[in-house]
Parts: sequence; C-alpha cells; structure tokens
Amino acid sequence: MIKLESVSKHFGAYTAVDNVSYTVSQGESFALLGPNGAGKTTIVRMLLDFIPPSEGALTIHDVPVSNPESRKTVGYVAEQHRIPPHLSGREYLLRHASLMGLTGADAKSESLRVLEMVSMTGQEKKKASAYSKGMKQRIGLAAALMGEPELLILDEPIAGLDPIGIRDVRKIIEHFREQGGTVVLNSHLLSEVEKTCETAAILYKGKILIKDSIHAIVKENETLEDVFIRYVERENE
Ligand SMILES: Nc1ncnc2c1ncn2[C@@H]1O[C@H](COP(=O)(O)OP(=O)(O)OP(=O)(O)O)[C@@H](O)[C@H]1O
Ligand SMILES: [Mg+2]
Repeated sequence: MIKLESVSKHFGAYTAVDNVSYTVSQGESFALLGPNGAGKTTIVRMLLDFIPPSEGALTIHDVPVSNPESRKTVGYVAEQHRIPPHLSGREYLLRHASLMGLTGADAKSESLRVLEMVSMTGQEKKKASAYSKGMKQRIGLAAALMGEPELLILDEPIAGLDPIGIRDVRKIIEHFREQGGTVVLNSHLLSEVEKTCETAAILYKGKILIKDSIHAIVKENETLEDVFIRYVERENE
C-alpha cells in the first residue's frame, strides 16, 4: 500500500529524514514512533506530497505520490488540525465533501454518516471556535473518513483527547480496519499504539532503528514504552 525507498529530506544543511525505506501492506496498521523532532511529520508531509523528498521515492498503491491519483483513496488528519473558527462542523464537512466532488443530498448524507462515526451528531451546528480541542480533532477525523478511504494517515490522532475520545478513536480505527482499511499513524501514546497497531517503527534523528510487528518487538514482561526508551536511550548515550 505504501512504499518508501531510500527517502531523505534535507532542510538546508539539516537532515530531517535520513535514507528511510519501509513498506506498509494493505490492511496493516502501522505506527511511526520517535522522539520530538525525529522526522515523523516530515515523512507524512512527503507521503501527501506537501513537500518533495530530497532523495528517494514514495508510492501509494504503486503510484508515485507526486501524482494526485495516489491520494484518491486517502483520508488524512494533520498534527494540529485546524478548522476555520467561523465555520460550524457541518459547514466544514460540507466544504470537504464539495472538494471531493460530492454535492446536495450526497454531501449531506455523507456528512451525517461521518459525524455519527465520530460521535459528534447533534454538535455539528456549533462554530469551530466553540469546539474543544477534542471536538476539533473528531471533526478532523470525520473529514478524513469521508468518501470511505482505503488508507488513513493520522498524525497524532489522539493527542489532547480525553480517555473517552481516545477509546472512540480506537474504535473508529478498529471498525475501519475490519472493513479492510490500512492505517498509518504517528503517536507518542505508546500504550494506545500497543492496542491499536500491528506494526511499528522507531525513528531516531531521521533514521529507522527498527520496524517489525509489535508482537516481535515487545518481549515478555515489557511494554512498548520500555522498548522505545531502551532504543532511544541507547542512541542518546
Ligand atoms: N520546513 C522546515 N524547515 C526546517 N526544518 C524543518 C522543517 N520541517 C521540519 N523541520 C525539522 O525537521 C525535524 C523533524 O521534524 P518533524 O516535524 O518531522 O518531527 P516529528 O518527529 O514529527 O516530531 P514531533 O514528535 O514533535 O511531532 C525537526 O528538527 C524540525 O525542526
Ligand atoms: Mg510531528
């Protein structure tokens, strides 16, 4: 579903992503982990063609990400999802629907469907300026779920959510995966990643230290957090 081949990104003299290669299969749920500044969001931004790689190739469904076709079946939520404050959740989703080519009754029914999925039914008429952080996050996720994508790319989807919000996002992801969807996410909430994802990679200063199934990475009597700290502290020494 996703393939990165020897991908690097330099910002001036600084190398944010350093010769990264990995694949994510269809139906996989993959978490990219790593300390602040490791390069996780930079990889997401290259996958969505917001910025070009300095070196290497990225494809989705074997289509180079520089081709907009690659994003046809992709839903995405940004790290700091912003909704114009004067728009209501409903207006925002209708706009998003229109960008996807949905109008009239189709746009309305798709908006209602995704609002229901993120448990925001009844709150859609409030302006974004009156939404809490978690409510904005849910609306962002609703927009990403529009048009039944095959791949969800989520940059810290649960940051700032309350425990119920975290559980709700977990359920949405589980439901999405039951339908055969592929999920790629960045997160620092490792106990949640352990519950939600099958595979993970640890990125450190732009380099992949390990990518494997979480089952293989985490030994008995250990948590994913223990593994993360072990890997990162070894590099910090
Ligand atoms: N446009 C840019 N210009 C210069 N440097 C950048 C730019 N974008 C990112 N960087 C640098 O690249 C590195 C990786 O940033 P990135 O946002 O990918 O980290 P991250 O792993 O997502 O971190 P976090 O966990 O804090 O979200 C950082 O050192 C950052 O300062
Ligand atoms: Mg980030």
